[in-house]
Formats: sequence, C-alpha cells, structure tokens
Amino acid sequence: MFNLILFGPPGSGKGTQSEKLIARYGLKHLSTGDLLRSEINANTPLGIEARKFMDKGQLVPDEVVIGMISSALDENKNIPGFLFDGFPRTPAQAEALDKLLDFKKAPVSVMLALEVSEEELVKRLIIRGETSGRSDDTNEMVIRARIAEYHNKTAAVADYYRQFNKVVMIQGEGTVTEIFNRLAEEIDRRMATQVQ
Ligand code: AP5
Repeated sequence: MFNLILFGPPGSGKGTQSEKLIARYGLKHLSTGDLLRSEINANTPLGIEARKFMDKGQLVPDEVVIGMISSALDENKNIPGFLFDGFPRTPAQAEALDKLLDFKKAPVSVMLALEVSEEELVKRLIIRGETSGRSDDTNEMVIRARIAEYHNKTAAVADYYRQFNKVVMIQGEGTVTEIFNRLAEEIDRRMATQVQ
C-alpha cells in the first residue's frame, strides 16, 4: 500500500491537488474537512458539535476526527492506498494514525508538505469565500484564525514525521499543473523505491 499525507496550511491547495492525485494513482481520498462538512450538512450530533469549532477557525477535538478516520480505514479494504488530506493535524492525531496503520502493516509512505506564503493563502481563501458557501471562508478574521491554528498546533506534525525521514517540502505556488507535476515526480520516485 502507498499511504500519502498531503500536508499544508489552509488554502495551500490540498483539496485541489488531491482530486488530481487520486485520479492518477487510484488512492482513496480521506479528507477530514469533507467528512466533517458532510456531518454538518446531515445535521448529525457530531456535525452540530464540530461546527462550533469550524466556524471559529479552530480545530475540532482530536477524539472526534480520530474516530472518523478509524471508521473510514475499516470501511476501505483492498485499495492501493490512502491519500490523507487535512489529517493528521496534531501530533496526537499523527500518533493515532500510525497505530491504526500498524494494524494494517501499511505505514505512512511519505508526507508531501505544500509551502505557500501567508499572503497568497489569504488571497486564495478570500476569493473562494465569494462563491464557496463555506462559513469558515467568509471573513478574513476566521481565515487568519485558521492559519494561526495551523502554526500553533499543526505545523508540529511535520516535525513528527521528519524524525522518520518522511517529509518532503513542495513549492506550492505556481499553476495547479506545475504543482501537480512536482508532487507526482516525488510520488513516482517514492513508489519506485518502496519495498512492497
Ligand atoms: P479543511 O477542510 O481541511 O480545510 P483547510 O485545511 O482549512 O484547507 P482548505 O480546504 O481551506 O484549503 P486546501 O489546502 O484544501 O486548498 P484548496 O485546494 O481548497 O478543514 C476545515 C476545518 O475543519 C478546519 O479549520 C477544522 O476546524 C476542521 N478540521 C478538518 N480536519 C481536522 C482535523 N484533522 N482535526 C481537527 N479539525 C479538523 O485551495 C484553496 C483555494 O485556492 C481554492 O479556491 C483553489 O481553487 C485555490 N487554489 C488552489 N491551488 C491554487 C493555485 N496553484 N493557484 C491559485 N489558486 C489555487
């Protein structure tokens, strides 16, 4: 199995690139943001609770997202691998993911971390907010709170995987195709050398 974590701050292009990567590599896309938004749209108790955090630009508690990912891993068997988008977002989530993948004897293969300047992130999210209907895109204060949450709680996840030599930084500015080619080049290299 090839398990990829696509990492980066809000607006760095994780969702955009995930769509293209799953089309090329057949990986199962697991986005905790998308899973949470489905719960919100279905008005489930989990969604109602999660929305309180998401609307303020804060992370949803670890146990909620770890539970969601654990179920998703169980539901998807016999696939070539997972693409994790927006997860893990804290070191505790990273440790939990490693334990869950240990059971499958299929560890994280690589973390590709998109690097984008804060100015560009804010610009992209404000533009998206004009049409996306996402409540966390609608005002700049919430966008900046999401970016601050990334620096305070999420950036440390890269340090966690760095100790296992699994992090590759990818320049996340340029056209969507240019960035996709950078990601694909790294994935192809890793896939070619991964011991099955
Ligand atoms: P989540 O849904 O994961 O959102 P996010 O990380 O804030 O990321 P975005 O979807 O905003 O950006 P992205 O990096 O996917 O970029 P995109 O491709 O969309 O999380 C939302 C919330 O859910 C969190 O704040 C938190 O509350 C909660 N949550 C989720 N996971 C959690 C977890 N594990 N633990 C706790 N809480 C969790 O692109 C952005 C825009 O830029 C788009 O309009 C796109 O068209 C544009 N764009 C993309 N690439 C380019 C480019 N190269 N040039 C110009 N524009 C571009």
